[in-house]
Amino acid sequence: MSSDIVAGLPHVETMLNYLVDKTEKPVTYMYTPPPGTPPRTGRYAPYPMSVYDGRAILPQISLDTYGFVLAHHETKVANFYDEDEVRAVYYAEVEQLVKEVTGAVKVVVFDHNVRCTPMSQRGENGAREPVKSAHNDYTLRSGPQRVRDLLDADEAEERLQHRFAEINIWRPIRGPVEEAPLAVCDARSMVLEDFVAMDLKYRDRIGEVYSVAFNPQHRWFYFPHMQKNEALFLKCYDSMSDGRARFTAHTAFDDPTSPPNAPARESIEARTLVFFAPEGKGKS
Ligand code: OGA
Ligand code: FE
Repeated sequence: MSSDIVAGLPHVETMLNYLVDKTEKPVTYMYTPPPGTPPRTGRYAPYPMSVYDGRAILPQISLDTYGFVLAHHETKVANFYDEDEVRAVYYAEVEQLVKEVTGAVKVVVFDHNVRCTPMSQRGENGAREPVKSAHNDYTLRSGPQRVRDLLDADEAEERLQHRFAEINIWRPIRGPVEEAPLAVCDARSMVLEDFVAMDLKYRDRIGEVYSVAFNPQHRWFYFPHMQKNEALFLKCYDSMSDGRARFTAHTAFDDPTSPPNAPARESIEARTLVFFAPEGKGKS
């Protein structure tokens, strides 16, 4: 699992969950399915992996090479569990930040999730649990489909003529993160065969995401002790197939260096559509 890129970097040894069987399309229900229907199909299993300290290579990381990047960002949001405040204040902040970091001409922030295990178990704040299996949020099919779902038909067709990307902005609600941090995989260590399309069934639509199968070539990173003023960009789709990162993968994991009574991770991820100028120009 070693390569020049990670040789000598600080890391933790842990287990990451991957999809085992690539032959059947897995299905996950995002609501309680009808009686007799399993909420999730597809077999997942833990595999030993090293997760390297991304802080050790910060200057060389970019969205177009690794598929992720860490940005400094101060937010004015007082309460990330206040849905109205997040939509009114945070969405505008994220739009601006993503424009600055990517050089995009238009950014649409269209959704977000807050995550915290105990809140989720108590049914509080609409919180969900961290996702402990390697995945990517869009596929070759659902990437463009989301643009059609979310923009007017004419604008969608026009935007789809030019480069676009789908990027999640993930950050702690409370820092530092000391439990269930998020690992991200270097896009260059992944091949298309690692990605297995999976249906996500909502009440009103079926989304498609990628589950990820184990490959010992994968190089995983995380940013230990992430703070509230750090925003992790996850590129989950890029329409350009010219060698730059198009997909990557992410998963929450158990960090063996977490203190025993570490507070539960609290995080928010905002989902964005990122459109570039017709020339396809724009920074990584
Ligand atoms: C995401 C995601 C999982 C987590 O941001 O897309 O899958 O545990 N997050 O935060
Ligand atoms: Fe995700």
